[in-house]
Amino acid sequence: MRVPIIAGNWKMNKTVSESVDFCKDLKKINLSDAVEKVIIAPFTSLYSISELLKDSDIKVGAQNVYYEKSGAYTGEVSLDMLSDLNVDYVILGHSERRNIFKEDNELINKKLKAVLDSKVKPILCCGESLEEREGNKHKDKIKSQIESALDGMKEDELTDKLVIAYEPIWAIGTGKTASSDDAEEMCAYIRNLISDLYSSSLAEKTRIQYGGSVKPENIVDIMGKENIDGALVGGASLDPLSFSKLINYQGEIDG
Ligand code: PGA
Repeated sequence: MRVPIIAGNWKMNKTVSESVDFCKDLKKINLSDAVEKVIIAPFTSLYSISELLKDSDIKVGAQNVYYEKSGAYTGEVSLDMLSDLNVDYVILGHSERRNIFKEDNELINKKLKAVLDSKVKPILCCGESLEEREGNKHKDKIKSQIESALDGMKEDELTDKLVIAYEPIWAIGTGKTASSDDAEEMCAYIRNLISDLYSSSLAEKTRIQYGGSVKPENIVDIMGKENIDGALVGGASLDPLSFSKLINYQGEIDG
């Protein structure tokens, strides 16, 4: 029922020409149409790749956005600017933005509110640190991140828009993936949370991704889980062949 969503988060990687080369190479590969595919590129590459991917079913995402409409916010990018480039998704609350750039729950809540009011759809990230996991505080952490991000949002604003990514910080870029059972447990926990906060019908419709060292070797196991509806992938999305294998995790595509 929920269409799987595989998104490649390039982070601060690829110049415009490297991004264009990637997309040209990716377009030569047969990709599953049973999966929603998103390339989340740096701002500088968005225009070029959005033009290149216009005639494909590969969507484009941004890694950040500011909540104000326009004005004196040096260095920031607005939702109108993203929509104008046909950007479909934006990542909010990634642990790198929370930890390195000190984005807090209040800011993420304001950003989410603005995104839900636009044509762009949010990929809302949450995840615990190793310390929190080892101290058995991971569920509390996820609960507080999700509750504060969604504070003040109504069910109809979230329906068919919200994507959540569960990304344990200790698994990001470390090569250390959560076991598929642990990932499933947390994604099921998040789904229950949505059900408690809103309704079982919103919980059933909301797509929940796992992120953290997803690669072609482990994606089948991860995507085989009932409550995992996709993957948010960093390192393994930087190479077109590797990214195509993630998209085609259900099997070879003929043609
Ligand atoms: P990774 O990054 O796949 O390189 O671990 C995932 C992410 O940060 O979204």
